[in-house]
Amino acid sequence: VHEIARVKNLNRIQMGQHEVEAWYFSPYPVEYAHLPVLYICEYCLGYYPSPKMFERHRKKCQMHSPPGNEIYREDDISFFEIDGKKQLTWCRNLSLLSKCFLDHKTLYYDVQPFMYYVMSLRDSRGCHILGYFSKEKESAEGYNVACILTLPQHQRFGYGKLLIEFSYELSKKEGKLGSPEKPLSDLGLLGYKAYWGEAIVKYLLELGPGEDVTIEGIAAATSITPADIMYTCHAMHLIKSSRSQHVICLTDPVKEQYERSRAKRKRRINPEGLKDWKPPF
Ligand code: COA
Ligand code: NA
Repeated sequence: VHEIARVKNLNRIQMGQHEVEAWYFSPYPVEYAHLPVLYICEYCLGYYPSPKMFERHRKKCQMHSPPGNEIYREDDISFFEIDGKKQLTWCRNLSLLSKCFLDHKTLYYDVQPFMYYVMSLRDSRGCHILGYFSKEKESAEGYNVACILTLPQHQRFGYGKLLIEFSYELSKKEGKLGSPEKPLSDLGLLGYKAYWGEAIVKYLLELGPGEDVTIEGIAAATSITPADIMYTCHAMHLIKSSRSQHVICLTDPVKEQYERSRAKRKRRINPEGLKDWKPPF
């Protein structure tokens, strides 16, 4: 029974203007599990087995954005903060949808211990979900992200980095270091490595002449943990060792890569936009 349950069930998912292939098994109720296409309301995340039933729902659905508090708004990007305990159905629907693109098992009904930070794109019709991350209200391990997802139709546009940047801005406001829950997926690791590299190089380039570089200094400025900083510096070959000394230094290829990825990235989180935010727990 368990083996059967692990097999990918859904084929395609339609959301708003987009139709995408499901990547992995998700525990939607059995009567929905083997449909060729599942129709999802992009606002309430409710699921419907046919275009007809979906259209009937859309006429009644009153939502035009994710639930919860809009805690950040800059240009056309808004973030909503949602308590899993207060929005059980919406958060369970989000978990079911995101399980389609996540390999490891997530308990879709166990949403109460988490806050959800949902990133959306605003236009005249409403706030369209792009992606989200969940965060334990209380993390003994110091995790600042549990699950993170950019919906597949919006991947590779820099939104993953924007979600990660937002998670670290929250950690900075909490005065804590943070790290994503392990194990990370392959795509998750690629996204984090890209973000960590960018944040560390930015810090190093902005250091004044004669200022010492320490792992603790980088951690304090970025909220990235020393372990993740060391990992990134090694991966980018930034650490030069001579005798007992370890020195972090920027190489030309690393600087050039940094400039290229900065030029590519149109959107950034403006920390000012979070100035009134207070940690909910
Ligand atoms: N192949 C190669 N590199 C990739 C990649 C891919 N398919 N997808 C992302 N990357 C890398 C790129 O290097 C990019 O950095 P760059 O812009 O400097 O080149 C970096 O990741 C970030 O890309 P970005 O466009 O900001 O990320 P995204 O919006 O595509 O989202 C994830 C990244 C991880 C959130 C997304 O792939 C996802 O939702 N995956 C499924 C869920 C998952 O595995 N989550 C993590 C585990 S909880
Ligand atoms: Na993190």
